[in-house]
This record gives sequence, structure tokens and C-alpha cells, in this order.
Amino acid sequence: MSDRDTVDPGRRSLLAGVAAVVASQLAACGGGGGTGAAGQPLSGGTTTGSDLPILRLDPGTVDAAGTRVFALNIGSGTTVFRTGVVAPTLGYNGALLGPALHLRKGERVRVDVRNGLAEPTTVHWHGLDVPAEADGGPHQAIAAGGQWSANFTVVNPASTCWFHPHTHGATGHQVVSGLAGLLIIDDPAVGSAGLPNNWGVDDLALVLQDKRFDASGQIDYTLGASDLQVGYTGDTLLVNGAIAPVFKAPQQWVRLRLLNGCNSRTLTLRLGGNLPLSQVANEAGLLAQPVVRSSVTLVPGERAEVLVNLGAAAVGQDLILYAGYATTGMGMGGGGSQGEVAAMTIRVDRAAQPGAMTAVPSTLPAAAPVTAPGNATVRTIRLDGGTMGNRFTLNGRSFDLARIDMVVPAGATEIWTFTNTTMMAHPMHVHGVRMSLLSRNGAAPRAEERGLRDTFNVDSMETVQVAVQTASTPSASPLMFHCHILEHEDAGMMGQFITA
Ligand code: C2O
Ligand code: CU
Ligand code: CU
Repeated sequence: MSDRDTVDPGRRSLLAGVAAVVASQLAACGGGGGTGAAGQPLSGGTTTGSDLPILRLDPGTVDAAGTRVFALNIGSGTTVFRTGVVAPTLGYNGALLGPALHLRKGERVRVDVRNGLAEPTTVHWHGLDVPAEADGGPHQAIAAGGQWSANFTVVNPASTCWFHPHTHGATGHQVVSGLAGLLIIDDPAVGSAGLPNNWGVDDLALVLQDKRFDASGQIDYTLGASDLQVGYTGDTLLVNGAIAPVFKAPQQWVRLRLLNGCNSRTLTLRLGGNLPLSQVANEAGLLAQPVVRSSVTLVPGERAEVLVNLGAAAVGQDLILYAGYATTGMGMGGGGSQGEVAAMTIRVDRAAQPGAMTAVPSTLPAAAPVTAPGNATVRTIRLDGGTMGNRFTLNGRSFDLARIDMVVPAGATEIWTFTNTTMMAHPMHVHGVRMSLLSRNGAAPRAEERGLRDTFNVDSMETVQVAVQTASTPSASPLMFHCHILEHEDAGMMGQFITA
């Protein structure tokens, strides 16, 4: 984290408010476009030569009772994204982004959060299966200057999860301003599973996010009509908060933990030369077998872990990580032209280090998927709205903090059917459950879509069925299910359920 150019941490960030009026062009759009959000071209482009910032792997401290304790201080600061331009940003324990909290399955954890902002926020553990009271959703608001502690036991398998604000109506601007951190979960019972795990050397977490900068170089979160329809898109792609950075790597297998932390863009990631990516994990944990892929597409909120053989490259060689994105999201002559930007450079600068992984494991200790019993309750969540200037909705309704949309028995396994009746794709996410994909339009999920899940795409006009297992302990505290395009979420494409 020492690579951040950070000055004047006391300065408040003032970000533009959100226009509430939607002048939708959706009604004028033609057929479906299966891609995610649309938007302007991205730059990232030629390398700035700056070193990739590495999020600090935070071990926390273990107290006398054996609880692992972390401290997160949310504050404002400034970040130099481009030489000579100082921009106000928000961060956890720093001016931008946050640490990677290192969690271990089976351990008791407490995170003590202090909100140093002049506005309320929350800290949501995206992907963590925690009690609803500890989830950090919109019901766990932390007032300006206030404090909150989350207490939970880690039950998730080894995986890469993340945390971010889930503030009622204000998630989009808080995330774009810099609030996002990582959760690295290890399972002591499986250890490294034969995968690279030398943090920042051959085990690398990449937070991919786009931001829009105004003429003076400040982060711009003014939402126009198109942003409100299809989601906010930035003009610049950042990796761990840096524009087109360089990571210097040893000549060996490395593991990339990829997070799409964009507000709305779906990203398709590939390496120059189309070097194969061995995908070993999706967003919720290890796959049963590695899947060799030429590219990996991630919707907002989704993660994947891939292995890359830098042993096949020469010392001195540069490999470019490219991010493909949709430039048109909907209609207008049949959807989805693609742009591509160089996100970062991986520079092989030295020989393999002792302990390097020598071969990709042929099988991995994946967690068992959730399967639904034959008599499982089936619920339908219809993705709708979005026409004639209206907001996107779920089952025809906009989010209401005071309305419970579903009451689900505690410890139940149900089938939830997500049916997208709209003209664009929506990345759907459910809090506080164990979940697996059952089918897409009736077809079996692809290999990399199996195992546990927490965030998955639902394409335009597509129906996705998932098996959902709720927590065994009932709770009156609501859990969220929503679209992870943050402008859709903020505008109410979200519902809540409790377990009884
Ligand atoms: Cu990543 Cu409900 O959030
Ligand atoms: Cu979440
Ligand atoms: Cu959406």
C-alpha cells in the first residue's frame, strides 16, 4: 500500500449529488442486447509505468478469547491518479480502497468499523455467509462519526470475497469515490490446495474499476439519463486504484484473483498473446477441476481466480492484461459492440522463486454445491421495469426499507427462478445464503459456473434457476437480493427477505 501517492488525508471529498430525474430512452430502443451496461470508450491505455499498488494483506490480531479482530477506519483523503492532479477520494485505513482482510474458515471474527465520513455508510461483506445482523446491508447504517462492530464466524470455503458500502441510495457514489476492500478466505483444512499463495509475489489480487474524471481531474459521479438507465460508466479503467500500472513478476505460475469492482461494466479479461488462463475458482470458491479458458467475463461484483504460466515467458517480457467491455448495451441495431483496453502490464523481471508452483493441480478441494430437494419451494423473481422512463424493478416493485418481500424458512433449500424480462442483462446477487446455479434457460451451467455462487449474470430475456440454502438460525434482520449494477440497486432494483 506504500505505492499510493497520498497527501492531505484530512480533506473532505465533495462529490456531486445524484440527479433524480430519468429521461429514459429505453422505450425507444429496439431489440435485446445481451451485454451488460453500455457507455463511453474506456482508456487505460499505454502504461504509466507506475507500480501496481498491492492491497495490504491484513492479518488482524487475535484477542485473548481467540477472536480475530480487525479495525477499519473509513475516511477521506486524496489520491494522485494522474501526475500533478490531486483528487479527493475515500478509503478504509487509507485514502483509497482498503486492505485485504485475511480470514480463516472456522474462526470467530470481529471487525470494528469507525465511520470518519460526514455521511452515513455501511460495510457489507460481499459473499460472506454471516448472520443478517452482521451483514452490513442498508439496515446496518453507521452514522457520520459513528461506530459499528460486525461479529461472525467464517463459514465460507477458501475464496476471494470483498467488502463495500451498501448505503441506502448512496452505494454507487461511495464505491466510485474509493470504498472497496478485499476478503481473502483460507481454509486451514485444505491449506493452499497446491495453488500459489505468496501474497503480492505469485498471488495477486486485482481490483478492476472504472471511474470518470472531469476536466480538472476529479472523480465525476454526476449521473445523466443514460447512467441512470444502464449504469454509471467511467472513462478510465483502474487496477488497484492505478491507471495502467506495471506488476513485476517472477518467471513462474502466478495466481490472479480478479474482482470486477465496477459500478456497471461487465469486463472480459484476457492476456496478450491469448495466453491460457486456468480458472481455479469462481467468485464463491474453488472449482472441482481447473477450467482452461482464453478469457474470463466478470459481471459487477463477480470474482474469479486464474493461474497464468509466466514460466512460458522470457525474463524481460511484458504481458498485457486486456479488459474488453461493451460499448453499446441495448437495442439500436443489435447489441453489444466491444471495446478493449490495456488494463495493466505484467513484466516478467526475474527467475522463478523457490517454492514456485510447478504444475496446475488436476483436481481441487471444491465445496459441495447446493442441491435442491425434489419438493423444494420455487420462488420467482422477475426482473422488470426499465421501459418508458421507469426504473428497473423486481416483481414490479422498487426497494422499500420498510417492506419485507419474502419470508423464507430458516435452514431451507429452495429454488429461486430469476426471469429477466428486460432489454438488458443484470448481475444478480443474494446476501447471506449458500447458493448454486441449477440452469440457464433450462440448460446445465457451464463448468466454471458450478460450485457455490453469490453473483451471476442474468441475460436479457434469460431465466436462471439457483438452489438457495438459507441460514439455519432465524433472524428478523433483512437480507438483500439485488442487481449489482449499483445505479440500479440505488434506484430500487433490490428486494429483501427474512428467515423465520
Ligand atoms: Cu456487493 Cu448487496 O452487494
Ligand atoms: Cu453482497
Ligand atoms: Cu440491473
